[in-house]
Amino acid sequence: MSLALNNGKAFVNGKLSMLNILIEGKKISGISKKRFGTEKEIDCNGKIILPGAIDAHVHFRCPGFEHKEDWFSGSLAALHGGITTVMDMPNTKPATDSRPALEEKRAIAKDAMVNKDFFVAATNENLQEIAFIPDLRGVKVYYGSTTGNILFNDSAKLAELFRLSKKNGFVVVVHAEDEETISRNAKKFAGIEDASVHEKIRSEEAEARAIAKLIELHKKNGGKLHIAHVSSRKGIQLIARAKKTKSGKNLTCEATPNHLFLDSSAYKKLGNLVKCNPSIKGAVHRKALWKAFVKGTIDIVATDHAPHTQEEKAKKYSEAPSGIPGVETMFPLLLDAVSRKKIPLKRVVKAVSEKPAQIFNWKTKGLIKKGFDADLVIIDMKKAFTVKNEELFTKAKYSPFNGQRLKCFIAQTIVGGQPYG
Ligand code: DOR
Ligand code: ZN
Repeated sequence: MSLALNNGKAFVNGKLSMLNILIEGKKISGISKKRFGTEKEIDCNGKIILPGAIDAHVHFRCPGFEHKEDWFSGSLAALHGGITTVMDMPNTKPATDSRPALEEKRAIAKDAMVNKDFFVAATNENLQEIAFIPDLRGVKVYYGSTTGNILFNDSAKLAELFRLSKKNGFVVVVHAEDEETISRNAKKFAGIEDASVHEKIRSEEAEARAIAKLIELHKKNGGKLHIAHVSSRKGIQLIARAKKTKSGKNLTCEATPNHLFLDSSAYKKLGNLVKCNPSIKGAVHRKALWKAFVKGTIDIVATDHAPHTQEEKAKKYSEAPSGIPGVETMFPLLLDAVSRKKIPLKRVVKAVSEKPAQIFNWKTKGLIKKGFDADLVIIDMKKAFTVKNEELFTKAKYSPFNGQRLKCFIAQTIVGGQPYG
């Protein structure tokens, strides 16, 4: 079947131009100033067309926690947020730390409405097995513990993993927080039940120590290192510095919308709803991250979509789980920032589509280009909408951005040539 997207402003070769797009099957087969006459047409009516977002960090919770999210609710939520590809994290039950577990997860997700792939968790026992998993895009390292308790922070084992990354080409994606610092802080602040203590326990120091150690190990052993969800000024400073060195060409990092758009002032209003790991920190950190994002030091933005139930979040601080849902709000928040001239559109597209495709080896994604996959989003930048908890498709049904009015509207998402919305 062929489908034409006519009369839109498409983001091609780094800028928006009045271009029509022809889709045949799952691929983009033509881009032209002339209208395509096909059996099926979408009149974009001056809206903008961007490559779909590739969210390199989601927790769709299957198997094990289907009550929190599953591939139907998760991918529906992603589609509404303009996300066409997701990369799912391994802290499920069972954890994705073996080939059979990976195959089980693949089978569960087979009918998802978005493209997907899966990270495998590194453990002290599975490096030999990881070495033989074909087409692995990324291995997740929990250098600090978080939901799921999969800890991997032995220096010799990490060195082995980096060497394996060098040999096989997968990316080592790290949750970088220092376990010792976290436990020391947890003892120091034990008994405090105000959610803002989270920033003190999961401190800037905890992140910076871990990042420094990982940069050192990466430098010595090679391979590809990607630091997930950077949250602090020191953390991003260390990365910026390391990027200037020789091994820096294989060092990338990510920020979440939570750390870019929220700071510790949110604890007062939202409490555990903004409890996540690494923690949301003070405004100086948010500003430093934002600067690094505009500059390009932050390579990609990914959601860390981590739904938990509202009942769990209503528990006292020390018992409430960490994590914030985000697939429905990431792209809108970033496009709203474009509307408010806080960042150029080009930077946003690079951070959510082009760069994640490059880093995680999605060879035919991330750009609107002939021969590439027809994963696209049609956006009305003239229309605004309000984020409303009750209208969300994630099972969690809450967002820290509830009530916020954003200047942009995701009109339609197209995955592999199939339009939704
Ligand atoms: O806040 C978080 N939640 N951080 C993580 O690293 C894990 C995630 C989850 O799975 O809930
Ligand atoms: Zn995560």
